[in-house]
Amino acid sequence: SQAQVGVTGLAVMGRNLARNLARHGYRVAVHNRTSARTTALVEEFGHEGEFRPARTTEEFVASLERPRRIVIMVKAGGPTDAVIDELVPLLDAGDVVVDGGNAHFLDTRRREQALRAHGLHFVGSGISGGEQGALEGPSIMPGGTAESYRVLGPLLEDIAAKVDGAPCCTHIGPDGAGHFVKMVHNGIEYADMQLIAEAYDLLRHGAGRQPGEIAEIFRGWNDGRLESYLIGITAEVLAHTDAATGKPFVDVVLDQAEQKGTGRWTVQTALELGIPVSGIAEAVFARSLSGSAELRAAAHGLPGPTETWLDSAASDRFAEDVEQALYASKMVAYAQGFNQIQAGSAEYAWDIDLGATAAIWRGGCIIRARFLDRITAAYRADGRLPTLLTDEHFREALAGAQSSWRRVVTTAAQLGVPAPGFATALAYYDSLRAERLPASLVQGQRDYFGAHTYRRTDRVGTFHTLWGGDRSEEER
Ligand code: 6PG
Repeated sequence: SQAQVGVTGLAVMGRNLARNLARHGYRVAVHNRTSARTTALVEEFGHEGEFRPARTTEEFVASLERPRRIVIMVKAGGPTDAVIDELVPLLDAGDVVVDGGNAHFLDTRRREQALRAHGLHFVGSGISGGEQGALEGPSIMPGGTAESYRVLGPLLEDIAAKVDGAPCCTHIGPDGAGHFVKMVHNGIEYADMQLIAEAYDLLRHGAGRQPGEIAEIFRGWNDGRLESYLIGITAEVLAHTDAATGKPFVDVVLDQAEQKGTGRWTVQTALELGIPVSGIAEAVFARSLSGSAELRAAAHGLPGPTETWLDSAASDRFAEDVEQALYASKMVAYAQGFNQIQAGSAEYAWDIDLGATAAIWRGGCIIRARFLDRITAAYRADGRLPTLLTDEHFREALAGAQSSWRRVVTTAAQLGVPAPGFATALAYYDSLRAERLPASLVQGQRDYFGAHTYRRTDRVGTFHTLWGGDRSEEER
């Protein structure tokens, strides 16, 4: 009998996804450009299920039952297009081609349109959870037609992570919706990682705690409302000692964070959509700054504050403050990310269900966290919530965090420990809740130098003041 699903591209993510499928009882056709990988997979893991190794693309396609379900797991960009170009002439109408890489959603829209012209379904799908997730159950964010989800959904739901029995997989929406949501997931991942890193830095260089102690603090947090995959692995990394030097691992790693681009795309897209994702933007900038070695070397030694450590009484209280600040800032980062999804959904007419999106991030993915239950509940109660921050639970948590959050940001400033994530989250929060913003003054400035006009609070219409003349106002 023929294979039920095929995976092409057998680097670690593809290989693990194929194994996951086979372990769930599917007959899996496997293919890789260089067939050594295919052979190795079958040799090493053949006992886990039914693999159908294929040497050539033709053999691969011929080995699949129809409608064919093919998952492409190659590097995003050119390699994806190359595989698609090879596959398309061999496929038949109704076949479903899935791109499981981190593609840009605009590429996915383009590919979906091109394959549609051939009667094929193209599904750009976010897959999160790293190597282990791919093998044991990732969070899956497929886009594409409703028809493609009918053919593909049951299989994806089978291999996805489960939370309370529910699969971490849902049909996100048409064409690029899945990859858009995965992109924002990654943006939130960047913000989350940056906030956790700042929390560490403040505890280390403000409160004078050692990495091992901070690992313990994080383990404690991981038993509470901050429970999440990222807090858990952070504690592991901080507790790790470098074998070669006997120093904390975190002290021997070069402090220049790298990036593959999904965080940057999130911010670029947010700028286009006009959505302030300042938490994600600061996280991307923080990585860029860390990598600016020459700039940092030139600035090293510039004057800083005279006060550089907390006294020991303050230092004891500080960890609790940081926990509060982290929770509040994390809320802001997620609220911003969900607003971006809302805006993308409106712009591209995707009709994305935010509650369902939050629900499938509760397991399998890198940002899985206890507090996604709260986000799921908030959007299930009101799918059109303007911001998560006004939801009852979050409002209460924000009330509880007020003095701690502000203390952390001021302490960071006083001690000269950079905390761009915490600071921008607080500034966003204060801006949102302000009754009046100084944007009125910016409008005045614009009108002064460029006659760009302004609107008034008390009358409808567009106005201009004759700044260079008698300063009377005219309606434009
Ligand atoms: C995931 C991750 C995954 C990948 C990131 C890393 O959801 O499983 O987000 O997609 O690890 O792309 O991104 P950077 O290399 O940009 O940090």
